[in-house]
Amino acid sequence: MLGAEDYKKRRLAYLIEKGQPGEAVTAKGWVRTRRDSKEGFSFIELNDGSSMKNLQIFVDKTVPGYEDVVKHLPVGASIAAEGELKESPGKGQRIELVAKSITVYGTADPETYPLQKKRHSFEFLREIAHLRPRTNTFGAIARVRNAAAFAIHSFFQARGFMYVNTPIITTSDCEGAGHMFQVTTLDLAKLAQLKNAKGEFEVDYTQDFFGKKASLTVSGQLEAEIFATSLGDCYTFGPTFRAENSNTSRHLAEFWMVEPEMPFTDLEGNMDIAESFIKTVVTEVMTKCAEDLDFFNQWVDKTVIETLTSIRENRFERVSYTEAVDLLTKSGKSFEYPVSWGIDLQSEHERWLTEEHFKKPVILYNYPRTLKPFYMKCNDDGKTVRAMDILVPRIGEIIGGSQREENLETLKQRMAEWNLPEAEYWWYLELRKYGTVPHAGFGLGFERLIQLLTGMTNIRDCIPFHRTPKNAEF
Ligand code: 4AD
Ligand code: MG
Repeated sequence: MLGAEDYKKRRLAYLIEKGQPGEAVTAKGWVRTRRDSKEGFSFIELNDGSSMKNLQIFVDKTVPGYEDVVKHLPVGASIAAEGELKESPGKGQRIELVAKSITVYGTADPETYPLQKKRHSFEFLREIAHLRPRTNTFGAIARVRNAAAFAIHSFFQARGFMYVNTPIITTSDCEGAGHMFQVTTLDLAKLAQLKNAKGEFEVDYTQDFFGKKASLTVSGQLEAEIFATSLGDCYTFGPTFRAENSNTSRHLAEFWMVEPEMPFTDLEGNMDIAESFIKTVVTEVMTKCAEDLDFFNQWVDKTVIETLTSIRENRFERVSYTEAVDLLTKSGKSFEYPVSWGIDLQSEHERWLTEEHFKKPVILYNYPRTLKPFYMKCNDDGKTVRAMDILVPRIGEIIGGSQREENLETLKQRMAEWNLPEAEYWWYLELRKYGTVPHAGFGLGFERLIQLLTGMTNIRDCIPFHRTPKNAEF
């Protein structure tokens, strides 16, 4: 059986970084380029996704199959190169592999293989999402996603938070916004036959799989609150689903969310941990994926490293919704959506605050109660709730959170305001009936974090396979 180190040694990143001249190795991967020299040798650039760099393979005419196979190896072919590492005399790499033999697993017809050596548009690559992880950009995005996910778990584990898995199928709408995908096993073609006692058309959900109307979750928060009020600080990190018909560069129908929930914590404690969370994850990814970030900085967004450095080093600005509305109205800027107290801030407003005015992340708090979900704690002014959103340059809202309403009566009032039936949230209400405590939490959109880290403009490129209106390919 292979040990952990053995697995690492199978990857080209390991050979490129740590391989020693004289070592006998076998390198496996996909051909990125091949250059032939008239003097009877070729260079193959091999990549296996473990790093941005390729391993250079030197193959000369003494290698079996040189004329017939090696000199015809197309871009995209999968091969194993067996040989010895040597110090590379050429520029650009420390070592190269001098091949003794080449084994071809699979070729790739150059007439049809879409990833030839030229730049492709991100729109085109979205159509071939099964091959795009083989490109520099999408390999780097995948590595950043991986490093960010690991950093997120480390952040919480280091602080004693428990990782909990909340359900994906649910019968309660956490955000109360009605943007849910229904889950059913009812035969849609026969729905019209479902009639109530009066002979009217009415779906009888007692006949459905769960015996009542069920959907895909929009957030794991309500269930995370159960664990927070039993076991203490906890977090979820899982897929969430929203059937909003928004065709924007920041919305997905399926996205991943990180949701910590903390008892004995108020709004300020929530802001503190959210700020330190973003800073820690950014710092970690900057260290672990330095090469990938250099690539994004060069080819995707020339300001990405500068932005991340400034996020890491500056205290986030904290302003109330009321102050922000004041700043926006006095800005003299003409926005597409005019600003007044009580409006839902649009992306253009959020971006003005974080990009133009403060030029750093901004935590907006105390929003009008009419704008935010039922579970947020009401302030004594009767007008605002203890909500907080974190806005970052280029993206706008990356985190949404709040202190939760822990008072049973106030929570019931809020549910009535939103026309939410108490019966469906009976268990949520019981958390306030038995041993209620002040508590708070937030949700970070994982793909928006990846947008921030990579400088990619479209969120559809920040998840392996995007689900958006009219698209669920792959
Ligand atoms: O602000 P939201 O809706 O908050 C919640 O769902 C709370 N229950 C979280 C909590 O307090 N535990 O969503 C949280 C974050 C947003 O700030 C955004 O980053 C991301 O989730 N998000 C989306 N990301 C991609 N596509 C969408 N359609 C998104 N909707 C929200
Ligand atoms: Mg929000």
